[in-house]
Amino acid sequence: MSYLQQNQERFLNELLDWLRIPSVSADPKFHGDVLRAAEYLKTRLEEAGLENVELCATAGYPIVYGEKLVDPNLPTVLVYGHYDVQPADPYELWDSPPFEPVVKDGNIYARGACDDKGQVYMHVKALEMMSQQGPLPCNVKVMVEGEEEVGSNNLGTFVRQNKDKLKADVILISDTGILSNEQPSIEVGLRGLSYHEVEVTGPNRDLHSGLYGGAVPNPINVLCKMIASLHDENNHITIPGFYDQVAVLSEEERAELNRVPHSDDEFKQSIGLKDTYGEAGYTTVERIGIRPTLDVNGIWGGYTGEGAKTVIASKAHAKISMRLVPHQTSAEITQLFQRHFESIAPSGVTVVVKPHHGGEPVVTPTDSVAYQAAAKALETSFGKKPIPTRGGGSIPIVAMFKTELGLDTVLLGFGLDSDAIHSPNEHYGLFNFFKGIETIPLFYQNYAAGMKQ
Ligand code: BES
Ligand code: MN
Ligand code: MN
Repeated sequence: MSYLQQNQERFLNELLDWLRIPSVSADPKFHGDVLRAAEYLKTRLEEAGLENVELCATAGYPIVYGEKLVDPNLPTVLVYGHYDVQPADPYELWDSPPFEPVVKDGNIYARGACDDKGQVYMHVKALEMMSQQGPLPCNVKVMVEGEEEVGSNNLGTFVRQNKDKLKADVILISDTGILSNEQPSIEVGLRGLSYHEVEVTGPNRDLHSGLYGGAVPNPINVLCKMIASLHDENNHITIPGFYDQVAVLSEEERAELNRVPHSDDEFKQSIGLKDTYGEAGYTTVERIGIRPTLDVNGIWGGYTGEGAKTVIASKAHAKISMRLVPHQTSAEITQLFQRHFESIAPSGVTVVVKPHHGGEPVVTPTDSVAYQAAAKALETSFGKKPIPTRGGGSIPIVAMFKTELGLDTVLLGFGLDSDAIHSPNEHYGLFNFFKGIETIPLFYQNYAAGMKQ
């Protein structure tokens, strides 16, 4: 019986204990829990045989760091992940409480099961397993932050102040997905992000909608109209200059991209849609992988309680995000959005645009030793060659690692789109959890062998 088989029950139970700690970085109510989740990880890293394990203080939540340096002549892999999770709201849509993990039908149900505690824990257990079986084939550094879901605001400073400590040859991250459990893949692209909160103010107080209605700008009506105008009839974004820097793929590159196994029927069915939707002239795979987007993430104002209240609210609000692709930059898009959104406001209202966090898009190389090592590891563990894919999500640290440390990243993630990350009933397959633990050591072996040549 292999070490993994012998210990899989314990591995799983340790993860479940970690998932019981509600490490929601967005909500100050969970402050103590986020810190407890960091402590928990620190102890588990020590038990797994890592050295110099510490909580590195930042202006926000600490970064959990640990290392195992076996030989200065061997290459060094820096593993990154996050122990914070998204808020679990709305709680009533969960079939079981988000922080009381249950294993059902081969899945672990809990907030953070896949994003990203479950995937980080694969690394902890893979390193434990490898340490039990002999010297590691590479030097390993592990760095797990607690503010990814709120924009990694303190990570840049930490990385810039700790360039020596973080010195490595490549970054390894498990915080993305594969196409399916039958078809492994490696994400080679992540979109960037420009995120804003907007506020429209009309009258200086809430008004009776009969006494004033029709003669004053209703901030909610106005906000809806402004938002609606941000896309044209082809679902192109109307912000002037928005597409100016967007990398145009050649016909061959697009054909290659569209060769990934994808079915629009399955896509629609999996999320209950009657039809596909998006920018004219692009396939679903392209709309997610290589095209920028603009979406409202939340909108509020006025009366939303029981029954009717005839009122014109003084203010309306929305949270608006844009996903960016090469070679857009969050700074430039933020400026274009802000300027445009303010310019389309009718004269009777005041509009304030408040930019939140941003992040840059990336495309990672496929001809590197590290990518090839990951591809070979997946081929061994799944019995099938992985396909490179362009993902739609964002992990802003990946572009930052490139600019600050000059390092490329390999996105060795094991999630599925159907895992419902950020949604109610987030889950992670036991198959994926254990497959990850099995695959990660193969990556290190292949990478060490490849770097020797
Ligand atoms: N792990 C996700 C990103 C992800 C998921 C990338 C699946 C590719 C496939 C990450 O935790 C996340 O949620 N990122 C945020 C951005 C962040 C700045 C809040 C996102 O993509 O919305
Ligand atoms: Mn994540
Ligand atoms: Mn996330």
